[in-house]
Order: sequence, then C-alpha cells, then structure tokens
Amino acid sequence: MTETNQQIHKGLDGVYVDTTAVSKVMPETNSLTYRGYPVQELCENCSFEEVAYLLWNGELPSRKQLAAFQKAERAERKLSPRLLRVIKEFPKKAHPMDTIRTAVSFMGLEDADTADNSEAANRRKALRLLAKIPTAVAANFRMRSGKRPIAPRADLSFSENFFRMCFGKVPAKEVVKAFDVSLILYAEHSFNASTFTSRVIASTLADIHGATVGGIAALKGPLHGGANEAVMHMLKEIGTPARAKGWIDGKLEHRALVMGFGHRVYKWGDSRVPTMTKYMNAMADFTGGHKWVEIANVLAGEMMAKKNIHPNLDFPAGPAYYMMGFPIDFFTPIFVMSRTTGWSAHVIEQHNANKLIRPLSVYTGSAERRVPAMKARG
Ligand code: COA
Repeated sequence: MTETNQQIHKGLDGVYVDTTAVSKVMPETNSLTYRGYPVQELCENCSFEEVAYLLWNGELPSRKQLAAFQKAERAERKLSPRLLRVIKEFPKKAHPMDTIRTAVSFMGLEDADTADNSEAANRRKALRLLAKIPTAVAANFRMRSGKRPIAPRADLSFSENFFRMCFGKVPAKEVVKAFDVSLILYAEHSFNASTFTSRVIASTLADIHGATVGGIAALKGPLHGGANEAVMHMLKEIGTPARAKGWIDGKLEHRALVMGFGHRVYKWGDSRVPTMTKYMNAMADFTGGHKWVEIANVLAGEMMAKKNIHPNLDFPAGPAYYMMGFPIDFFTPIFVMSRTTGWSAHVIEQHNANKLIRPLSVYTGSAERRVPAMKARG
C-alpha cells in the first residue's frame, strides 16, 4: 500500500468504519432509533431502566425481566468504603468529569471480573458501572462541599435515587420524568466520539472499565458532551432575554463557535431536540425559570436566520439540568451516567466481532536522514 494520492478523511468525516445493531441515526429524517424503536416513543413510554435493558439485550423487557433487571441494578449501587474514602480525598476544585473518570478507573481495580472479557463478564461489569456511577457522582457532589454522602436506596428508581443521593429528597414527578427523559436521550448515539473511543480501546481487547474511562475522557470536551455545561455558562453570561440578540450577533460577527449548536451528522436538526425542549419548557413552568427559555429561543432564532445551524441536544439539556438544581459542572457527569449504557453495548458488540482498530496516516514530516554525531550538532 502506498501513501501517495491517499484521500484523507479529516475527523473521519463521512467514513463508515464498522456495522452496529445498537442504534441508527438518520439525518435525512431527523430521526434516531435504539434497536429499531424511535427514541421519542421510548421517552414517552419507557423508563431509563427499560431503555438500558433494551440497549444491552436488543428487546424491551417483559414485566418480569424488568423486575429482575431493576433488582440486579439496585443491588449493585453501593460503593466500597475504600472508594468512598478516595472520593473524599479528591481535590475540592477538581472538575467532576475528572473525578468520575478517576472513580470509574478505581472501580476497575476493585471489580472481580476486570480481567475477564467474556460477554457474561462484560454484562456483569456494565451493570455494576451503571449502578455505581451515579453513587460516585452524587458522593463527589456532596463531599466536595463537606457534606456526608447519602447511601443509595433500593426502593427508588434510577433517577429518583440519584436525586435523593444528591439533595436528600426525591423531587416532584414532573422533575423526575424530565430527568429520566434526558437520560434516555443521552443514552446512545452510534459512533459518536466517546463511543468510538470506547470501541477503539475495546478493540485492543482491553477491558470495559478502561473503555469507559476513555469514553468519559472523550465526552468531557466542549465539542462533545461538555457542550451542555458550556451552554449554561453562555446563558448565564447573557443573563437577560433583552441582551440575547446583541450577544449572539456579536459572536457571529466574529465567527465564534456558539455552544449547543451544530452537529457532525445532523445538518437539518437533531432528532432529540424537540423532546428535550418540551421537557426543558416543563422545567421552566415548574420552576419559573422562563428567562432561560426566552434567552435560548432568541439564540436559536438568530442561529437559524444568520447561519442556518440548528441546536443540538445539549442546548435544551443544559438549562433543564440547571432548573432542576444541579451545579453546572455536574451536567456532563449526568451525561456519563446515561451514556455508560451505550458505551457498554458497543464494547460488547466490539468484543463479539473484534478487529483491532488501527487506521493509517500520510506522513508529512522530514525526509529520511542519518543521525549526526553529537559533536556535529553544535
Ligand atoms: N457555532 C457557530 N458556527 C458553527 C457551529 C457553531 N456551534 N457549528 C458549526 N458551525 C459552522 C462552522 O464554523 C463551519 O462554518 P464554515 O463552513 O464557514 O467554516 C460550518 O458551520 C460547518 O461546521 P463544521 O465545523 O465543519 O462541523 P463539524 O461537523 O466539524 O462540527 C461540531 C460539528 C458539533 C463539532 C460543531 O458544530 C461545534 O463545534 N458545535 C459547538 C459544540 C457543541 O455544541 N457540541 C455538541 C455536539 S452534540
């Protein structure tokens, strides 16, 4: 194989690298299916736990299967006392994406199945990651401000339990539903950057904890999951609806990137935005946070009119989480709590039909030369 005349696909833009049966993104119709089911229908009819089961098993659970799945997940929620001590020692100013990345890495040290990459072991580990990540996120949330962590409860749903571990109580059902919907929408999105990262790591036959740590590291970036935090920082900087138009016009004049807009695959709108916008609006009604929606509407209108660029999921998710009461730097860790389902489904798929992912590059450095002796280097 020669390097000359090779076409470079910068950012792997438009490149198909493998098959997947987990989800399908259809930009032509602004739609997304998980295992064949439209994500909007899943949001309106299912819990996040049912969707996690679907992603891992290919089918929605029966009542009995769901009960068994919930029981197994709830039984794995507790962290070891050692991991809790580690979380307590984290620097208070550390970003929660870095602390959850470290906590997941530590979970790999403690997991009895770490060295076993069989599908059965991967499923056990995926379930433990799903169950324990929220406990670690909530423990960090509380302990960084000197509060005691709240132990998980086995009689609460995934979302209810997370709220309780953070705030000590379960909020109104409208808030829990909006949060659950956000988790469903964030759960899976084919070969996005963090999932591809996880698949690359899994393709070396490394373990699922390593692949998840890599996924978290990739998700942190503001061009990917970190955008939900960046959106809220932007809305807060703008401050009032009256300032929104001037602010965005100024940014566009300078060709600045506006966070929460644009997508590599969706060029005519993100399939997940209408559903999340509905629940963001519900949060504004519930909390009286209408000003965030008003600012967001001005930005979205200007982005369409001036650039023809649509918002992505992070645009409504950021303000929704803010109105639910989460600090901004916990928005992307919440994304992790959900996307761990998608990452795990892809790691299992990769391990089941593996080929090492190892692309090529065209070399543009110095021509070959001889190493000069030290005295000739001056
Ligand atoms: N704000 C302003 N302009 C944007 C933009 C944004 N958020 N997103 C894309 N554009 C512009 C680009 O500047 C480019 O303009 P040009 O052709 O005049 O240079 C054009 O739209 C095409 O964008 P491009 O950078 O080629 O798209 P991409 O597929 O490489 O990038 C993203 C996709 C998501 C990385 C990009 O849209 C982005 O950075 N968005 C903001 C971060 C974000 O919200 N990320 C979450 C994604 S779910």
